Amino acid sequence: AHISFDHSKLSKFVHDNELGEMQAMVTAANEELRNGTGAGSDFRDWLNLPKDYDKAEFERIKQAAKKIQSDSKVLVVIGIGGSYLGAKMAVDFLNDTFFNYLPDDRRQFPQVMFAGNSLSPSYVYDLLNLIGDRDFSVNVISKSGTTTEPSIAFRIFKDRLVEKYGEAGAKDRIYATTDQAHGALRQEADAKGYESFIIPDGVGGRYSVLTPVGLLPIAASGADIDQLMKGAADAADAYTDPDLSKNEAYQYAAYRNILYRKGFTTELLENYEPNMMYFAEWWKQLMGESEGKNEKGIYPSSANFTTDLHSLGQYIQEGLRNLMETVVKVDQPNHDLDVPKEADNLDGLQYLEGHTMDFANTKAFEAVTLAHTDGNVPNMSVHIPDQTPYTLGYLIYFFEVAVAISGYLNGINPFNQPGVEAYKQNMFALLGKPGYKDLGDKLRKKL
Ligand code: PA5
Repeated sequence: AHISFDHSKLSKFVHDNELGEMQAMVTAANEELRNGTGAGSDFRDWLNLPKDYDKAEFERIKQAAKKIQSDSKVLVVIGIGGSYLGAKMAVDFLNDTFFNYLPDDRRQFPQVMFAGNSLSPSYVYDLLNLIGDRDFSVNVISKSGTTTEPSIAFRIFKDRLVEKYGEAGAKDRIYATTDQAHGALRQEADAKGYESFIIPDGVGGRYSVLTPVGLLPIAASGADIDQLMKGAADAADAYTDPDLSKNEAYQYAAYRNILYRKGFTTELLENYEPNMMYFAEWWKQLMGESEGKNEKGIYPSSANFTTDLHSLGQYIQEGLRNLMETVVKVDQPNHDLDVPKEADNLDGLQYLEGHTMDFANTKAFEAVTLAHTDGNVPNMSVHIPDQTPYTLGYLIYFFEVAVAISGYLNGINPFNQPGVEAYKQNMFALLGKPGYKDLGDKLRKKL
């Protein structure tokens, strides 16, 4: 496999026989997933997506990305949850750490900014201010087409586009990614003639990064989406064997379930690269929304190292012992720097002369792994060779297939998200949306 899963530090927590004992359950979970006999089977289209996708639409995405690159300094991507986190994490993961900070005269591709992922008016105001009088385009993304946060943000940015470019000009700068037939956004896209892309029915929001939801923003940022899909396609081939000794994604699923059943109920996803912070945010949605239901499930959390070693580190080392951790470690950073030589040794750092920063980062990773293991935090790691699109595609698929198996191992439907609706319904009611009067009256009495 292109990436590798290391569970060698688990021997203190997991007995030799325990992985083998999971094999029968993993085989059953694999059958549920592959044969569609498990719960939520209508939402498994992400399984074959890296190979079985709409090639004509894929080309249209590349063309749209080129147009955005040629006529815009900023792309505003409007969406929330599954219609946001995949694109955000990938744009961060694949680009220069300060990609969005580079001034226009030093950048080849547009800034990719996100909106509609909160209801903060200050955020939208500040983003409008950042855009200023520069050229911009909008990619509005919503599967249902009715989510409040992106709908409000879209109105505001659409307004600004119309003000700047007129109705016709605005229309040419709006790209809508939504369901093929349903929802308000589909109706508007068709009525107004926006260029639009389809979120396939059988792919839930958190599994949608390799659909137009993620692909258009990622391509607009200049990243190679062919390589992204290739990585995911190779991972799809690599992780089909139900035999636990041969399938590292399934091993990861099995180990985290073994640990969960021993009381390790929170999993931290950790990294040593600041531009992977949103990778953890994407992963948290994938894991939390897939597994947190029926009053159970591993709580997904994250930590960014080495910075959080100086804040959360104390808790991880010695706090409540319900934590397990999974590190995604980049083996070859995009760039490395030498620790400079100095004639005197006033800072006491001479012992690091001749070494690189990555040497120090890797030693930190090793030191933390050993310290946390001693502190009774089970540690797993996923080693990735680099931060290329190919590797990201591979890694995305690794976690997607792992959580599907993991969810079935824990006896839940990994593909629905009934709990997300509760607050949405309440908010519609409190905002006075037509059709929600009775609920609104009931809720207002409780406030
Ligand atoms: O996964 C989910 O269901 C949510 O996070 C949704 O992706 C989020 O609510 C956005 O939904 P939509 O794409 O319909 O606007």
